[in-house]
Amino acid sequence: MADLTWINEQARRTLYRVIPQLNEQFAGAGACNEVDWKTFIRRLERHFPRLFGLLYQLYGHQYDFFFRVENILATAARMWVARPQSLKELDACREAQPGWFHSEKMVGGVCYVDLFAGNLEGVKAKIPYFKELSLTYLHLMPLFKCPEGNNDGGYAVSSYREVNPALGTIEQLADLATELRQNGNSLVLDFIFNHTSNEHEWAAKAFSGYPEYEAFYRIYPDRAIPDRYEQTLREIFPDEHRGAFTYFPELHRWVWTTFHSFQWDLNYENPVVFSAMGEELLSIANIGVEVIRLDAVAFVWKKIGTTCENLPEAHMIIQAFNALARIAAPALLFKSEAIVHPDYVAQYIRPDECQLSYNPLLMALLWNSLATREVRLLRYSMQHRFAIDAGCAWVNYVRCHDDIGWTFSDEDANQLSINGYDHRKFLNSFFTGRFPGSYATGMPFQENPKTGDCRISGSCASLAGLEKAVKEETGVEVDLAIQRILMIHSIILSMGGIPLIYLGDEIATMNDYNYQDDPAKSGDSRWVHRPFTDWKKYERRNDKQTPEGKLFQALLKLVEIRKEHSVFASGENHETEVLDVGNDHVFGYVRSYFNEKVIVLANFSEREQTVSIDRISSMILPGKDLVSGEEYQPGEEIKLEPYRFIWLSI
Ligand code: GLC
Ligand code: GLC
Repeated sequence: MADLTWINEQARRTLYRVIPQLNEQFAGAGACNEVDWKTFIRRLERHFPRLFGLLYQLYGHQYDFFFRVENILATAARMWVARPQSLKELDACREAQPGWFHSEKMVGGVCYVDLFAGNLEGVKAKIPYFKELSLTYLHLMPLFKCPEGNNDGGYAVSSYREVNPALGTIEQLADLATELRQNGNSLVLDFIFNHTSNEHEWAAKAFSGYPEYEAFYRIYPDRAIPDRYEQTLREIFPDEHRGAFTYFPELHRWVWTTFHSFQWDLNYENPVVFSAMGEELLSIANIGVEVIRLDAVAFVWKKIGTTCENLPEAHMIIQAFNALARIAAPALLFKSEAIVHPDYVAQYIRPDECQLSYNPLLMALLWNSLATREVRLLRYSMQHRFAIDAGCAWVNYVRCHDDIGWTFSDEDANQLSINGYDHRKFLNSFFTGRFPGSYATGMPFQENPKTGDCRISGSCASLAGLEKAVKEETGVEVDLAIQRILMIHSIILSMGGIPLIYLGDEIATMNDYNYQDDPAKSGDSRWVHRPFTDWKKYERRNDKQTPEGKLFQALLKLVEIRKEHSVFASGENHETEVLDVGNDHVFGYVRSYFNEKVIVLANFSEREQTVSIDRISSMILPGKDLVSGEEYQPGEEIKLEPYRFIWLSI
């Protein structure tokens, strides 16, 4: 890499060559007011050197590099000028308070527009419900234009500028974003940037043989290169197609399709792709989106002889998008979706890359601990891997729209004499309900005969045992299942980071097998936990005699407690210390914020467990469980009933 001084000097020169042109084109033409323009130039001066350095590393060897960079700058200026005034105000506000997302008031929810509420207007009508649940962050699943039939739940985008007409229009989306913001809720959308659908205009043009557009994708005349890549690639959706490439007979070519055949991987080695996608990113930001979920981050760069996952250039691409956002839409935050080995998950989490990240390890290990009734791997992994940069936060969740992959580290497991391969087999057997005595009702996802690999689909409630308990009409089991659901939510609500509720889980939504009758969905078991929302079921949320009401009311109470105690926020001066409480069935940690301290304990077994206070804290005054109000004395033994958790304030 060229040295930093040289890069900074070139960045400076480039900038001062381009600024007069930008001045003339935008400020001079009266496209924006002078004060705003000065702010924009200041941001450029601050962040452009970083953007330039990254682009130089990625594309500096290409003959038209400077031309590309100038184009990217012009795009940034154009998109910023087009940014609505209210969002420019939000930009200023977020710059003044960059850690806003750490607040204890943050509570996230995620849903599909069509399944939850029919369309965008329907979602708007649900704002009172979002307020009831105290949501401050709403992730709407993919809603842009996509192919009819199977479109991977919208993860195959045909246009980033058009909403799927069945759901509404861009204007309605922008209007919804504003309305949500006025109600204290930030809109979160995906940026599906590893691939487009095969119906995207770029793909259609590539299909028709335009070389400029073929260069947007990775298209090969024969198997020579694909074969070389495949020697080291992981198969992601082996049910749909083996390997990573699809043959299109009409084209007589092979196209790189990591996921489905209709999802064509973009070629980021081409700077035109970076610049075109950068523009799409900013156009999504200008709708009023505040957090971008960067989909499938691991896969965006490929190199022969590697797994083509988590390569250094993938990070550079994301960092370059981050720098672009700091310049032209600074309110925007990035959340990474890296469902990979925890060492790699961690690499995406940096203030200048992704400020937020899913926490797939915590998610998977909560389920692991429920299956095994012990917390050793959870404890060990969290002790070593929970701490992240104070400028970043985890998004903690128990379920999402995807399968559960057992992405714990085999090295961590080895430390505890757990064999990763065998243990994953057990987990798959447990959660598909095949393991004798299992309470779970899940389904296998993408079972790979070649590697024995398998992931799990199923709703939170069904995996936690509610479906089986209801079917078998065992009241005790019903209560245990609800207590399990509540307990794992108590952890995502208190451990540090943004808790994210997969809407429906808060009223114990169970698996729905109707997807099997829909040809566009039947091949993908993830649809079992993506049902149409049953609003009759939601009506029972205030009736504590029903499972819905028991769970919902208890969960709401936890949310309220979280919101009232700044110790549950994250960021600077907030700590999470994971404890060995002397009982392998009980997960424990201390949250602290200066003098405020809360000890969280959670019993992962269906037997009563005890923990001695002396062992976990030098408590000198009585402590109080914020959930039940019960007091505990110094030196006392704490008894935890099956699946009981406490938030002990000391
Ligand atoms: C992400 C999505 C998943 C989708 C894949 C391909 O992992 O969460 O649902 O299948 O990307 O876009
Ligand atoms: C793989 C990918 C992840 C995606 C998932 C969808 O695990 O790593 O990004 O969410 O597949 O099932």
